[in-house]
Parts: sequence; C-alpha cells; structure tokens
Amino acid sequence: MTYLATRLAAVKPSASMAASIAAKALRAKGLDVIDLGLGEPDFPTPPHIAEAAYAAALRGETLYTAAAGTPALRAAIAAKLSRENGLDYVPDEIVVANGAKQIIFNALMATLNDGDEAVLPAPYFVSYPEMVKLLGGVPVMPVCGAETHFRLTPAALEAAITPRTKWLFLNMPGNPSGAVYSAAELQVLGEVLARHPQVLILSDEIYEHILFDGRDFVSFGKACPELRDRTLIVNGVAKAYAMTGWRVGYAAGPAPLLKAMNTVQSQSVTSVAAPMQAAALAALTGPQDCIASFRTAFERRRDLVVAGVAKIPGLTLTPPEGAFYAYIGCAELIGKVTPEGKTLIDDTAVVDYLLNHAHVGSVPGAAYGVSPFFRISTATSDAVLTEAIARIGRAVANLTVAK
Ligand SMILES: Cc1ncc(COP(=O)(O)O)c(C=O)c1O
Repeated sequence: MTYLATRLAAVKPSASMAASIAAKALRAKGLDVIDLGLGEPDFPTPPHIAEAAYAAALRGETLYTAAAGTPALRAAIAAKLSRENGLDYVPDEIVVANGAKQIIFNALMATLNDGDEAVLPAPYFVSYPEMVKLLGGVPVMPVCGAETHFRLTPAALEAAITPRTKWLFLNMPGNPSGAVYSAAELQVLGEVLARHPQVLILSDEIYEHILFDGRDFVSFGKACPELRDRTLIVNGVAKAYAMTGWRVGYAAGPAPLLKAMNTVQSQSVTSVAAPMQAAALAALTGPQDCIASFRTAFERRRDLVVAGVAKIPGLTLTPPEGAFYAYIGCAELIGKVTPEGKTLIDDTAVVDYLLNHAHVGSVPGAAYGVSPFFRISTATSDAVLTEAIARIGRAVANLTVAK
C-alpha cells in the first residue's frame, strides 16, 4: 500500500501476538485450545495496588505529570534500585514510561541514527529487532544457542561489535530462554565493552524477581559500575507485580541520555497516566509478599514443565533459570511426518502442527532468532500446563519418520 511509510516494510507485528490470534481463531470455532503463546502473569494485581490508583484518582491526581514521572514515583524507584540492586541513582537519573517497551523505544528513538547497529543476542525478546528497524537501526543478532546456555560469550560479543555499534542489549532472566548471567559473566562482557567506548548498554531486568533455585539477581549496573555512564537499566512493574496492563516501566541511566528520552516522551505521549503512576508507587513501596508467592508458583511450574518435557522423546529443554517461559528444542521433529502426510520442515511447522493437532498454542523459535525451538509460556495454572504437556506428548508420538 503506497501510503505506508517505507520504514514499516521491514517491521513484523509481534509474533507472540500473532500466535495468540491464531489460537483465539481456533477457539472461536469451538475447539478447546490451550494458548501458551502470550507471556503475562496469570495472577490478579494485588488489591492494595488497584486501590491506590482509585484513591489517587479520587484525590484529583488526574492531570498531566512531569514527562519523566511524578517525583514520588521516581524517588521510590531510586530507593528500590538502592535497596534491591545496590545501585545509586538520584531521581533526575530516572524516567518513567508506559511500560519497559516504551522506555526501550524512547531510548532507541533518542540515540539511533540511520544505519547504527544494535547487538541483540539471540534468542531475544521479539520486540527488540523490530523497534531497532522501525527507528532506522540495524539489528545484529549473534546466535547464543543451548551450548552456551543461551548466554552471550565475550568472543561472540567482540565479533558482533563494529564501529557502527550503538547498543548492546542484555536481558536477564531472558525471554524466551530464562537464562541468567552471573556477576563474573557480566564482568567479562564488561571487559569487552570497556574496549569499545561507542557502545551503550541496555540491560532489560524486567524479570529480575522471577528467578529460581535460590539464585540472587545481579544487575548489570552492579556488576560493571565502571560502565555506569553508558548503561541504561530498564525495568518495570509488569512482571513482578502482575501489572502488565497497567503499563508502567522505568529506567535509570546517565542524565544526558535520559534528558533526550524525556524530550521524545514529552513530544509524544506526554507522561504515564497519573493514577497508574500512583499504582506503581504503591507496588514499589507497599507489601512485597506477592513477589515471593509469584516466584514460588513460577518455579513449581518450571519444574513441572521440565519434568514433563523430559519424558517426551524428541524434545529438549535447558531448565530455565528464571522468567516464565520454556524454550523447547525440537530439532529431532524436523523432517518427521504428520498423520496428514505433511513433513515438518521447520519450527514454524512444528508450532502449526501443535496448534492444529494438540490444540496448544506456542511461538516458533524463528521469532526469537534461534531455531528449531518453540516457546511456551508457563504463566498458567499447573493443571492447564499438565494437560498441555500431555497433549504435546501425544502429538509428538503421532509423528512418523519419513519413508
Ligand atoms: C524482555 C522483555 N522486556 C520488556 C517486556 C515488556 O515490558 P512492559 O510490559 O513493561 O512494556 C517484556 C514483555 O513480554 C519482555 O519479555
């Protein structure tokens, strides 16, 4: 269509959204579909958070706020970063936006010139490369497969950096792999980055609280304090407090970068809705017990999925160390034949088969840059997950070897 901007030609809509739409379409036909495509906590937002938004609206907190966020919320974020992450930021080094996604968008909008490169270790969050392309940048996506536990190695980082590199994105725990970096692993990446002063680092820490096996979370900022003046710490309330629909994310970073991000924000969305900021304030300053109970539930489900997948011949799963996804390897299914006589040529075909035969919705690894895998979300009840794994097992057992 001629009226669309040319920069949109290379940009794909969200693959997880697309998977969810396909699952919904099948459900609309009356089929009992389990949709494990989209990833959001299945718990309700804790009531004291919802009540804080209501109370704020009744108090008259219904006007525009400063683009960077209310002083109270930014102070609470500074306190959180100090208390939980050992990071020292003043409120002027903090911005609030409509979700971590908008933070990332604003940061890229504020920094990318045409042709600038962003290193996005694959598998990556589906929105990263699309945002980079939307804003004129070039995604560089080194593959970090199961053999490195889906973690970027210093050698792969060094090989990916060029004089045009503007950003390195890190995401831990990672979506879709659940991989986490230790302080030592971050520090060796930091040593590579120290040799390339043109590279900014975006550390997406939105899943920090969903961490298993008693691990402690180490922020990139804590591991590599010497890179503070080019590090943007990205976080939000969506995953930790079951607040995906409230749309509040935040970032801490060097003042010149934040000032530019604020300009983008003030000339586009103005600010986050005031009652939503009051809700985020209540989340960060109120009772924190929901975090531990969500984590316990997610860890139990992780265990359930790891045990279930281990019993399905042909599938592999590196146990996720955090977040609420399982990135399941399906190399042995490629080339096999469905009961309809169709050969599974790639992970997109596997996902299609699982949707149509097992009635389980998932997302192909192709969307995350590492194939052949498929991602399921474990943010659903134990009973639903158990049923989904059983269905996947039966569907896999129904495949035959090509003659
Ligand atoms: C790695 C990662 N970053 C950011 C987001 C989005 O966060 P928000 O809802 O705060 O925009 C997601 C959501 O799936 C994610 O997986």
